[in-house]
Amino acid sequence: MSDTLSVGIVGTGGIAQSHIHAIEANDNIRLVAVMDVDASRVKSVAHKHDARAYTSLDAFLEDSEVEGVHVCTPHNQHADIAVAAAEAGKHVLVEKPMALTLPDCDRMIGASEQAGKILMVGQVMRHYPINLMVRQMIAEGAIGQVGHLTRRRYSYFNTLAPGSNYPGWYMDPRIAGNCVLYGFGSHEYDILHWQLNSPVIRVYSQGTASTELYQGDKDSYTTVMNHANGAVSVLSQSVVCHTGAHDQYIIGSKGSMVLTGQTLVMNGKEVPIEGSSGDGMKNQIGEFAACCLEGKEPDANGRSVRHTMAVIEAAKQSAERNEPVQVSEFE
Ligand SMILES: NC(=O)c1ccc[n+]([C@@H]2O[C@H](COP(=O)([O-])OP(=O)(O)OC[C@H]3O[C@@H](n4cnc5c(N)ncnc54)[C@H](O)[C@@H]3O)[C@@H](O)[C@H]2O)c1
Repeated sequence: MSDTLSVGIVGTGGIAQSHIHAIEANDNIRLVAVMDVDASRVKSVAHKHDARAYTSLDAFLEDSEVEGVHVCTPHNQHADIAVAAAEAGKHVLVEKPMALTLPDCDRMIGASEQAGKILMVGQVMRHYPINLMVRQMIAEGAIGQVGHLTRRRYSYFNTLAPGSNYPGWYMDPRIAGNCVLYGFGSHEYDILHWQLNSPVIRVYSQGTASTELYQGDKDSYTTVMNHANGAVSVLSQSVVCHTGAHDQYIIGSKGSMVLTGQTLVMNGKEVPIEGSSGDGMKNQIGEFAACCLEGKEPDANGRSVRHTMAVIEAAKQSAERNEPVQVSEFE
C-alpha cells in the first residue's frame, strides 16, 4: 500500500489555491493533475505546481495516476463531477455545499458506495481547532447538559462590488443556490448539529429579502431547530448586514460558552486553543488522504453531510410554507 495519495483538482479558481497549499503542507498526499474549463487558468496552475493540465473531464478521469479528485467548481457542477469521478473509480473530496438538491446528494452517495470509494465533503469548519474543542467540551459535559445554542453569521456579501475577490456566480441562485442557505449556511447548519453530536429533527425558519441586492432572492434567514437530544439551536444569518458578526452562545445546565471569531470563553474565562482556523484546510486534506489510503470513513462523509443538506432543505421549505417542518420528510 502506498503511503501517498495522488490527487487531481477539478476547478482551479480561488479555493483550489487553498487546497494546493494544504496538499503541499501534508506529506500523505500529492498533486498530479488539474482540470478546468478555463484553458489559460488551468495551464498556469499546472505549470506553477508541476502537474498535468486538462480541459476535458473525461481525459482527466482517464488519468490512471489520479486516485482522488477534489471538486472545487461552482455549486451546480458538484454532483455531476463527483458522480463521474466515483464512476471512474476515484475517491472524491467535494467542496461545500455537497450539492444543491437532495436527489443529487443521493446520486453522489450511491456512486461512491457502488465504487467502494471515499466521498468526503469540505466541511472545513469541522476541522477548526476551536470547533473541535467545543465539540469535545460539550461531549465531556464541561457545561452540563446543553439546552440552548444561538449562532449568528452576518456579513455584507456583494461579489459585484468593485474590489470583491469573489466571482459573480455566487450571487446567481441558478448556479450557487440561495447564498444564505447554500453559500454560508452549508457551514453553519452543519456545525451546530456536529458540535452537539445530535441530529436536527424539526425546523422552523423565516427568511426575508431585506434588500434589493439579491434581486428578490432571500438574503437573510433565522431558523429555530429542535435536536434529537432535546437541545434547541437558533441560527441567524444575513448576507446584507453591513455590520458583520460571527459568534455563538452555548447554554448548558452547569455553565455557558461564548465563541467570538476564534476566541472561546467558558464561564467568563478564556479557554486556550492550540492552532487556528488557518489549520482547518490542512487538517481536512490530511484526513481525506489518510481515509483513502487506510479505507476509513471520514467524519464529514457523504451520509453525515446529507443530514446537513436535509436540514437546509427543511429550513427553505419551512420559510416557504410558513410552518414548522420535520426533517424526516427529507431523510
Ligand atoms: N471552504 C470554504 O470556506 C470555501 C471558501 C471559498 C469557496 N468554497 C467553495 O469552493 C468552490 C469553488 O469556489 P471558488 O471560490 O474557488 O470559485 P471560482 O469561481 O474561483 O473557481 C471555480 C473554478 O471552476 C471552474 N469551472 C467551472 N465549471 C467547471 C466545470 N464544469 N469543470 C471544470 N472546471 C469548472 C472555473 O473556470 C473556475 O476556475 C465552491 O463550492 C465554493 O463554495 C469553499
